[in-house]
Amino acid sequence: MPRTDYVIDEMISAKSIAARIEALAKDIEAAFSGTEKLVVVGLLRGSFVFIADLVRELDLNVEVDFLEASSYGDGMESSREVRILKDLRGEIAGRDVLVVEDIVDTGFTLSHVVRFLESRDPARLRTIALLDKPSRREVDIKADWTGFEIPDEFVVGYGIDYAQRNRNLPFIGKVRFVE
Ligand code: PRP
Repeated sequence: MPRTDYVIDEMISAKSIAARIEALAKDIEAAFSGTEKLVVVGLLRGSFVFIADLVRELDLNVEVDFLEASSYGDGMESSREVRILKDLRGEIAGRDVLVVEDIVDTGFTLSHVVRFLESRDPARLRTIALLDKPSRREVDIKADWTGFEIPDEFVVGYGIDYAQRNRNLPFIGKVRFVE
């Protein structure tokens, strides 16, 4: 059973996130300049807020698609078995693709998704994660762009949940369990 006796301390403000996304968008525009179309793939559910803010900063011809992968269920531990629960609607063969992830923790999700999408022969496939917890990594993978490196804290907000709660917080918060 998920605990309910916790408080959330702000870790990264909405303003800091917005400023970082503006800078990341510039880097992505430069990397994909001249692309006919960039397919921006959000990993559900955690990336829904990040992708919404990111694509609105991108001055590129963008198509938005979603993929749902899950390894955590409602728990706090990765099952290490990533399942694709919902596939893309569009084709990505020969296209430029940007995979948008909220957080890279063990790395199982992102590495599985990259392998899954690479098998469809996109022209270029790049990845971006808002948050990275390098100290938790079990699979050798790093997103091409990262918003913030964070310590091994349990975070929620800006799309990220604890037992499906708190995704709607406008900032990234740190969960502190209280006795
Ligand atoms: C979370 C998060 C990442 C993944 C990162 O997804 O959104 O996709 O875990 O962890 P990893 O690097 O250890 O694989 P989750 O399975 O909880 O689904 P959600 O996005 O629907 O919350």
